[in-house]
Amino acid sequence: MSTNERKTLIAANWKMYKTPDEAVAFIKAFVPLIGKHGHAEVVVCASPTLLPTVVDAARNTPIRVAAQNMHWLDQGAYTGETSPLMLKALGVTHVLIGHSERRQYFNETDESVNLKLKSALAHGLIPIVCVGELLDEREANQTAEVLERQTSIALGGIDPEAAKSLIIAYEPVWAIGTGRTATPEIADDAHKIIRAQIAKSLSPALAASTRILYGGSVKGENTASLCCLQDIDGALVGGASLDPASFASIVANSAA
Ligand code: PGA
Repeated sequence: MSTNERKTLIAANWKMYKTPDEAVAFIKAFVPLIGKHGHAEVVVCASPTLLPTVVDAARNTPIRVAAQNMHWLDQGAYTGETSPLMLKALGVTHVLIGHSERRQYFNETDESVNLKLKSALAHGLIPIVCVGELLDEREANQTAEVLERQTSIALGGIDPEAAKSLIIAYEPVWAIGTGRTATPEIADDAHKIIRAQIAKSLSPALAASTRILYGGSVKGENTASLCCLQDIDGALVGGASLDPASFASIVANSAA
C-alpha cells in the first residue's frame, strides 16, 4: 500500500492501439466511472498520434497524459523521433522510458534510458522508468542483479534534488501480455530490491518517496492483492487498460 507520501498511481499503457475516435470514446466512458476514486492518480500513455486528442479530451478531468517514449535531444535530424519539447508543447505531463518492448524490439539500452531520464527531468516531464527481468534471468537467479543494473545505470549521474518526480515501474518481462502475473510476494521482493538501489544511487530519502508501480498482466481481479503491499505504489496496465470498465475496476480496486 502506498504511504501518504506516495500517492497510488494507476497508468494505462495503450501501446500501439486506438484511433483518435476510439481514444475519445474511451475517455468519455471512463471519466464518469472513476469520478469518486480520488485516492489514485490516473495516467494514460498513448501513441504520439493520439497525444493531442487525448490531452484535449482529458482536459478538466483527473487524467494525465503520457508519451510512451521520447528522444533525449530537443531537436535534430532524427527521422521518426519525438522530442521532449514537442511533448511539453502538447500538454503531455509524463513519459514512459525503457519499456521492455522498446528494449526488446527497438534497441533501447540502459544507457539510452539514462539519457532519456536526464532529459525528461530537465524538461519537467514526469518519468516512468521501466525495469524488469526476462524469464531466463529469473530462472537463472539473476533477478536482483538485473534490477540493480538496470536501475543503477538508469539513475547514473542524476542529482537526487532533480529526481523528486521519478517513478519506476517494475515489469517482469515474463508477465507482460502473458496472463502470468507475478505473485504479490515476487513483486514485493523486486520492489524492495529496486527501492534499495534507489537509496544507493540517489538517497534513502528519495528511495522512500519514489513510487514504484507493478506491471505485467494486471487486471481488476488481481489489483487488490498487489496494491495492498507496502512497496507497491500502483500499476502500469497494458491489455486491461484498453476497455474503460476494465481499467476503471483496476483504479477502484487499487484503493487498498
Ligand atoms: P500487460 O502489459 O498488462 O498487457 O501485461 C503491461 C505493460 O506492458 O506495460
